Amino acid sequence: MNMSEQQRRAYLEALDIDVWLPRGADAESQDVAGAPPSVAELGWDELRACVAECQLCDLHRERTQTVFGVGAEDARWMIIGEAPGVEEDRRGEPFVGRAGQLLDEMLRAVGLDRGSVYIANTVKCRPPGNRNPEAAEASACRAYLDRQIALVRPELILAVGKVAAQNLLASDAPVGRLRGRRHALGDIPLVVTYHPAYLLRSPSQKRLVWSDLCLARSLLREGAA
Ligand code: URA
Repeated sequence: MNMSEQQRRAYLEALDIDVWLPRGADAESQDVAGAPPSVAELGWDELRACVAECQLCDLHRERTQTVFGVGAEDARWMIIGEAPGVEEDRRGEPFVGRAGQLLDEMLRAVGLDRGSVYIANTVKCRPPGNRNPEAAEASACRAYLDRQIALVRPELILAVGKVAAQNLLASDAPVGRLRGRRHALGDIPLVVTYHPAYLLRSPSQKRLVWSDLCLARSLLREGAA
């Protein structure tokens, strides 16, 4: 198998294995040493290319394409969902199916649209049959999401649904217990709310989502969207 150095590093990072480099070729001096950067150092184009060829977990076997993320690369809001569904897998863009239309409405309610936020998923490949991603799949993909967050440097993260919330917060609490309050990912405020796919089934919960969106908006630096 022909594996790029970047891909090898991504595999090792996903397995939590320290990458040993020759003396003088540590993270600080890789450019000098000429070694390829790890995922945590990639720019947007390199990261996109790395994700597009990723085979870190079995989800790559059945995907049509990876679904990287969309929106403003300097967005104040970053929306993090679960995984691509059938429509997203076909089109290569997150949240373009029915749940995505509802997400667009949720964003419009606070004066936003998908061009002014950044939208990404916990995993970049569609799980077969639209099942939830497994923990190992989410952790294999985590370096990519972390790098997206580091590149966007959002003022606020909105985690929609259980998979995003539990993975980002390393919690197994249900969304009902995580929503409605401020969390943080490092120094970035994080708010959890229900997934729009759940709202399609339980529209009466929309009022709780509205209150989560208002909370999120209040956590922005100047308190405005
Ligand atoms: N649900 C998600 O969480 N993400 C998508 O991209 C589509 C549906």
